[in-house]
This record gives sequence, C-alpha cells and structure tokens, in this order.
Amino acid sequence: MRNDLPSGARGVRIIGTGSAVPEGRLTNADFARMMDTTDEWIKQRTGISERRILDLRTQGCSTLARLALERALEASGVKAEELDLIIVGTVTGEMTCPSVAARIAGEIGAKNAAAFDLGAACCGFLYSLNIGESIVRAGRARTVAVIGADAMSSIIDYTDRSVSILFGDAAGCAILRSDDDPSVGCIYQHMGADGSGWHALYIPRREADVPVEDSANPIRLGCLRMNGKEVFRFAVTKFKEVLEDAFAKTGLTPDDVSQVVCHQSNIRIIDSAREKLNIDPSKIFVNIDYYGNSSAGSVGLCLDQLSRAGKITPGKPFMLVAFGGGLTWASSVWKT
Ligand code: COA
Repeated sequence: MRNDLPSGARGVRIIGTGSAVPEGRLTNADFARMMDTTDEWIKQRTGISERRILDLRTQGCSTLARLALERALEASGVKAEELDLIIVGTVTGEMTCPSVAARIAGEIGAKNAAAFDLGAACCGFLYSLNIGESIVRAGRARTVAVIGADAMSSIIDYTDRSVSILFGDAAGCAILRSDDDPSVGCIYQHMGADGSGWHALYIPRREADVPVEDSANPIRLGCLRMNGKEVFRFAVTKFKEVLEDAFAKTGLTPDDVSQVVCHQSNIRIIDSAREKLNIDPSKIFVNIDYYGNSSAGSVGLCLDQLSRAGKITPGKPFMLVAFGGGLTWASSVWKT
C-alpha cells in the first residue's frame, strides 16, 4: 500500500482479467460410476455436465490463484512490482497462515504489495472487487489485483451425492487501476450478510461447531455441509432481490447493461431470477455446464471469459452479482 498518492475520489478501471481452471475433468458419467446418481438427474437439477478438479497431491488453491493473477497481469501489461495490494477471496486456502495472497505475492515478486485473504464464500470475488475498488477510488492504492479462487475439491466429501456433484475448482482475477476520470468504475455496490443462516452451508473443523440438528449428517469434518433446499430458497429469493436493488438504485434497466455477470450456483436459480426480471438470456452468461459451482472462482472466471470474448462492451455499464455461504450476497455495477 502507498502513502505517496493524492487522496480523494479517483476513477477506477479494470485494465485486465485472467482466470485458471485445472486440466482434470470430473464428468457426470464419472459420478454415476462412483455413486448412485445419473447424468440426467444432475443435468436436470443443476445444469452441470462436468467440473474441473485439481490434482491435490501437487496443486491447491494458490496454484489457480497465481495462474489467474499472472494471466491478468499479462493481459493488462502490468508488472508484479507495480501492484500495491493483492486481495484473494477464498475459503479453501492451503494454509490459514500464510494467506494465499501473501504466498502468491512472494511467488510472482509483487514485493510492493500488501496482501490478504478474505472469506466470503461464493461472494469472495465480489467482496474483494468492491473493497479493492473502494481503496483505489479513495487514492490509497494505484494498482490492485482482486482474485476469487477456490479449490472446492479439497473440501468435498465425494461419498455425498447431494453436495459433491455441484462443485468444481477455478480462479478469476481482475487488475484495478486508478484513473483521472472519477466517473468511471463502480457506480453502485452492495454487500450484505445474514449470519443467522450460516448452518445452511458450512465447513466444520470440530464437532463443537456442528449444530445439534445436523449432528446426524454423515459428511466428514473439514468437508462442506449443505442444506440444499434451504440454500436453494435463499439463493432464488436473494438473487432476485440483489438484482432488483442494483437496477433500482442505479436507474438502469436490463437493456442498458452489456452483461449481468452472476455466480454460477445452479441453472435453475439463474433462470428463475432471469425470468422474473425479464432479462434477455444473451445478457446473463452461463458456463456452469462445464465448470459447476466454483465458489469464489465463479464470477471472476465468467468476467474473464466474457472480457476475452469481447462481450463487456466499452462505454456500456455491466453488473456483477453473487450470493453464498455466510450467508452473504453482493452486487457491483460498473461504468466503463
Ligand atoms: N443423484 C440422484 N439423486 C439424488 C442426488 C444425486 N446426485 N442428490 C440427491 N438425490 C436424491 C435425494 O436423496 C432425494 O431422494 P429421496 O427423495 O429419496 O430422499 C431426492 O434426490 C431429492 O433430493 P433433494 O435434496 O430434495 O433434491 P433437490 O431437488 O433439492 O436438488 C440440489 C438438490 C442440491 C441440486 C438443490 O437443492 C440445489 O441446487 N440447492 C442449492 C445448492 C447451491 O446452489 N449451493 C451453493 C450456493 S452458493
């Protein structure tokens, strides 16, 4: 972080993006061989056909976070030493100390950067983006890397068919840079949490943290536990609410934005919100078919794929939306 910049409202631009997924694929046919399930059941309930899975013997969350960061630096023409701050949204870092952010900062030679991880589950990328943007806008940093990265395969119990089929591994990164035009950047952001609902989606490390009503749950300690129906209800309601709020507060309509970049949780959750708000399918990118739900990795991965495909139209606003464990939710609306 720096003390040599003029403080005050600055504009912020996303000057480059990058993403990374492992080479390993776990298909619905693989699951059908491992447990009592079918391609048809998974596809129909979730929209997922396959997910990317790390080789955890030699790789981890930081492998993907670093790759996404290196690709974003290359796309933006920024050198590692120019970074003032690296934020990694993740719940699956290999170690709690060091943070993934500090570890990859050291690996790539980002010797002028502060670095920390942020835990907001599937909202990890959006929380990081909103906080990173606010720091650049306030003039406290010139160049910030925000990353969402999760190695979900490291916290999945692959004997549980209702949870394991949903998740994959991925990372996405955006490089934020200060701009002289204060009108560019995030024009609206919202972040929320409701801790009273945490037991719908959690990763217990000790028995003492398991709620009595979930004590019969056979999923191993250290693995993700989920009440699918409860999460589904929360996600359908919250996704719609967060989108409505972002449109209302900015005065934008779905026609005004080039893309709504949304967390890839379940195709039925995405379709439900899209239909209720009458958003054209071409405006909501969906890649869940190939990557599943990659938690904090998902929104950054979508943003990078959209950017590289030229779908984030310069001069047009775009919107990002996520929701997940915590329970948490977030939106971010950008003027380019
Ligand atoms: N294959 C076949 N059957 C399965 C199965 C699988 N992979 N997983 C669960 N089932 C069975 C259940 O055992 C149950 O059987 P029963 O009726 O004999 O008890 C039946 O299917 C229905 O289970 P249910 O949990 O009610 O299914 P569902 O329609 O709610 O779908 C989810 C399950 C997980 C797909 C769905 O609840 C969901 O997507 N929830 C949101 C999850 C999410 O998005 N999490 C991340 C948020 S960021």
